[in-house]
Amino acid sequence: MSELRQRQPATSAGSNRNAESKTQRRQERRADAEESHGISTLDIIRIIATLILASCGLSYYITNSESLLWGYRPWFTRWPVVKTYLTGPINLTPSELSLYNGSDPNLPIYLAVNGSIFDVSANPAIYGPGGSYNFFTGRDATRAFVTGCFKDDLTADLIGAEEMFVPVEDVEQEGITNAQRKIRREKEVRLARTAVEKTVDRWEGFFRNHKKYFQVGRVLDDGVVDAEKGKRVLCESARTQRPKRSEMKEQS
Ligand code: HEM
Repeated sequence: MSELRQRQPATSAGSNRNAESKTQRRQERRADAEESHGISTLDIIRIIATLILASCGLSYYITNSESLLWGYRPWFTRWPVVKTYLTGPINLTPSELSLYNGSDPNLPIYLAVNGSIFDVSANPAIYGPGGSYNFFTGRDATRAFVTGCFKDDLTADLIGAEEMFVPVEDVEQEGITNAQRKIRREKEVRLARTAVEKTVDRWEGFFRNHKKYFQVGRVLDDGVVDAEKGKRVLCESARTQRPKRSEMKEQS
């Protein structure tokens, strides 16, 4: 096949002709290569591009125009997150954070969980003034996220919150010694602390991975002492949710 192609000999007629014949030879070599392999690199690129386009189109259709990547949203595809990454975190003291509770329409709405501040401005119906969860904004109310006591526990102080996962001792005659009871209590308190951590992690993850919310920074310690820290008793609603030893026994 290639011998059928006319190769123009290089002459001293000028560099233009020389260049022309070089291009021709290059094209011939490419054509030869294509003939010998059957599929070129360009073909492979075309196939891959078509598959990517088809996948994006299908994902867009199946996810109701929500995502081109089957719901996968890496952080660099979200502009507010990229902006925070470029401009640096917005770290605020509790009193600074209190300004971001939705009452100033010129400021974004922030809430904090476990010291991480999240922008929840995308959902003013829930977090804006009059919204059902407006009380969470402008503060770190991690304790309320655990106990569900939205009036008493709007604080970051978690000390004693684990009690809500420790069983109420409502069985008088158990047939175990005081030492055994003490060991059991210690084990249950350890488990209860893990349960608190898990609940906090779950809520922090909820805001961090939410498609509309994003983390802006951390709450700074302003040195103001919380006089109630460590002294808070378990709120009424959390007390009523505690498991009962009698019911645990019945289950086992
Ligand atoms: C520990 C207890 C609870 C916590 C920490 C909590 C927290 C939250 C948060 C943060 C949201 C907003 C989610 C978002 O940004 O999309 C929400 C939404 C919602 N929660 Fe709760 N919740 C709790 C218990 C309850 C209970 C017991 C109910 C039902 C009686 C409830 C009903 C709702 C409803 C209906 C919404 C949707 C938003 C709305 O219509 O206001 N939650 N919850």
